[in-house]
Amino acid sequence: MSLPDFDATYRGTPLVDGAATVPWNIGVPQPPIAALIDGGRVAGPVLDAGCGVGVTTIELARRGVEAVGIDRSATAIAQAREAAAAAGVDAAFEVADISAFTRHDGRFATVVDCTLFHSLPVELRPGYVASIARAARPGAALFVLAFDVSAPFTPEMSPNCVTADELATAVEGAWAVESVVDSTIHVLELPLAAEPPRDEQGRLVMPAHLLTAHRRPS
Ligand SMILES: C[S@@+](CC[C@H](N)C(=O)[O-])C[C@H]1O[C@@H](n2cnc3c(N)ncnc32)[C@H](O)[C@@H]1O
Repeated sequence: MSLPDFDATYRGTPLVDGAATVPWNIGVPQPPIAALIDGGRVAGPVLDAGCGVGVTTIELARRGVEAVGIDRSATAIAQAREAAAAAGVDAAFEVADISAFTRHDGRFATVVDCTLFHSLPVELRPGYVASIARAARPGAALFVLAFDVSAPFTPEMSPNCVTADELATAVEGAWAVESVVDSTIHVLELPLAAEPPRDEQGRLVMPAHLLTAHRRPS
């Protein structure tokens, strides 16, 4: 298993030969997250955990939803701030380790994790789950979109993919898990061990889980 150096990737260092520069930068929120937003399931204030270049945070802000994006990569956050300014929206961004960030206690009504969970080292998961629980208000919704273990990665580029049970078990505790359903993550070109289907935009469609949970009262 090897996780990328995310900041280097955002600065333009290819992940592996033959990969798009930032394969997860599809320019719009991932379709399963967009469906939640369109369905009115993402109430503000929202924490976009591991926001990258901020597409989800910016889409929420565009709709008038208060949103804060947090990412460890200073390069991604600089790009997110530029994109928000170019879009003329009021979105907040912070550089921080999501497994140990401070402030925002009890603030958020929704936490969106769009492909962060499988990007974390396994040992950071407990700190991450506790940190977002601290920042969420009682009853807050949590949505996590993460790769399933059947995603056809090669050893050179292999995030920490999960089974549905592994994802639910990692989150359960401060969070009451409601469902983990089959879902998809759409990415740009990547050399893979097997060719997955493509969507109508030609993006690779990878198997994933979408977890829904709610913050238990403390
Ligand atoms: C696959 S990218 C997804 C970015 C964005 N959510 C999206 O959908 O485009 C995973 C993101 O998690 C961030 N990340 C990884 N570890 C982190 C940590 N400990 N704290 C905060 N962000 C982290 C990376 O910098 C990267 O931007």
